[in-house]
Amino acid sequence: MKAVMFDTFGDPGVLHLADVPLPDPGPEQVRIRVQASGVNPVDSSIRSGAMQAIFPTVLPAIPGVDVAGVVDAVGEHVTDVAVGEPVVGWADPPAGSYAEYALASQIARIPTGLSFANAATLPTAGEAAKRGLDLLGVRAGETVVIHGASGSVGTIAVQLAVARGATVIGTASEDNQDYVRSLGAIPVLHGDGLLDQVRALSRQVDAVFDVAGKGALPDSIVLRGGTDRIITISDPAAGKLGVTFSAGTPKDWSTGDLARLAELAARGDLITTVAGTGCPAPTTAAPPPNPAPICAATPVSVDAVLEQMADWAHPGSSGPVSDGGLAFGPRRGPVRRQASHHAGLGGTCCWRSRWHCTRRPIAG
Ligand SMILES: NC(=O)c1ccc[n+]([C@@H]2O[C@H](COP(=O)([O-])OP(=O)(O)OC[C@H]3O[C@@H](n4cnc5c(N)ncnc54)[C@H](OP(=O)(O)O)[C@@H]3O)[C@@H](O)[C@H]2O)c1
Repeated sequence: MKAVMFDTFGDPGVLHLADVPLPDPGPEQVRIRVQASGVNPVDSSIRSGAMQAIFPTVLPAIPGVDVAGVVDAVGEHVTDVAVGEPVVGWADPPAGSYAEYALASQIARIPTGLSFANAATLPTAGEAAKRGLDLLGVRAGETVVIHGASGSVGTIAVQLAVARGATVIGTASEDNQDYVRSLGAIPVLHGDGLLDQVRALSRQVDAVFDVAGKGALPDSIVLRGGTDRIITISDPAAGKLGVTFSAGTPKDWSTGDLARLAELAARGDLITTVAGTGCPAPTTAAPPPNPAPICAATPVSVDAVLEQMADWAHPGSSGPVSDGGLAFGPRRGPVRRQASHHAGLGGTCCWRSRWHCTRRPIAG
C-alpha cells in the first residue's frame, strides 16, 4: 500500500510517499481502508522530534491517528463490526492513518449523514474537548472561558459546554469572532485587554479551559482568583503556575463518547469544520470505490499538500484530509511508546504491545 512516511525528524519536507506492506489486523483489530485522516497540531510536533520525550516514535514512521474509512478486514475476536462498515477511530501504531490502510482497535460506526472527512475531525479533538469539560466539571448555569474557542478542540468544547447549559466566553482572533458566536459562545479577542473584556461580560468565571496554550493562564488565574478549576491542554507554563495540565492518553479514548459525538455531528447538533482535503473527499459514508482513488500520488504533490496543510490557519478545523484512500499531512506519528513511557503515564496503555490493549466494544 502507499503511505506517507518520515525517516528522520524535521519539517514537512521529511514526509514522503512510500510503498509499504499492507498491515494485517491482529487480534481485536480491524483494518480500515482509509477515506479521511485528521490533522492535529501535535502531529507537527511529533514529526519534528520535539515530542520524543513524551511520544517516542520509532523511525521510519507513518503519521496519523484519527482515521475514518471502511472496515476492510477483521482480526481474531472481532465480532461486533463487519467488513464494509464505515467506521471512525484512532489508528493503532505502527500503522498510522496517513496511508491507504490503517489498523485500529478503538472505533465507532459512522452514522448515516456524517461524511468521512467530518468524522475524522472527531477522535482527538472530541476526546480532548470532553475530557477538559469533564475535568473542570462544567455544569448548567456556570460561566466558562474557553481559550482557543475557534480551533478544532475549542469548536467542540464550546458546543459541548453550551449543550450542558453553560454560558461560554470564547477567545479567538478578530477573524473568528463570528465563527465563535455561531457556535454558541460569546466571543472575545485573545491577547491584550482580555481581562477587561471578560469582566465586562461576567462578574463571575466558574471555570477556564485553555485549549490554545498561548499564554492566557496568568489572566485566567486572575479571573478565577486562583488556580482552581483551570485546565490547560497545551500551555507548558502550567506547572510553574500551579495550573493543571491535562494530557490525553489512549486510556482516555472512549468509543462510546466517540459514537455520541458522531451521532451529534450526523444530526447537525455538533459542527466541525474541515480545513481542506488533499483531494476531493467523499461526502458520505457510503462505501467508496475499491480500489479507492489515490490522489497526489507523487512525492512532489504530496509534499505540496503537506506544506499547505502545515500552514493552514483555520476556524475550528481538525483539517482532514484525505481523500479516497491516501491521507496527507503532518499528523501524529505511529507512536511506539516504550516501557519507561508506560511507567510515566501510570502504565496506562499498550502502544508497545498493542495486543495487550483491552479493546472497548464498538459503539454506534
Ligand atoms: N493535551 C492534550 O491531550 C491535547 C489534545 C489535543 C490538542 N492539544 C493541543 O491543544 C492545542 C489546540 O489544538 P487544536 O487542534 O484545537 O488546534 P487548532 O485547531 O490549530 O486551534 C488553535 C487555536 O488557537 C487559537 N489561538 C492562536 N493564537 C492564540 C492566542 N494568542 N491566544 C488564544 N488563542 C489563540 C487559534 O484561534 P484564532 O485562529 O482565532 O487566533 C486557533 O483556533 C494544540 O496546542 C494541541 O497540541 C492537546
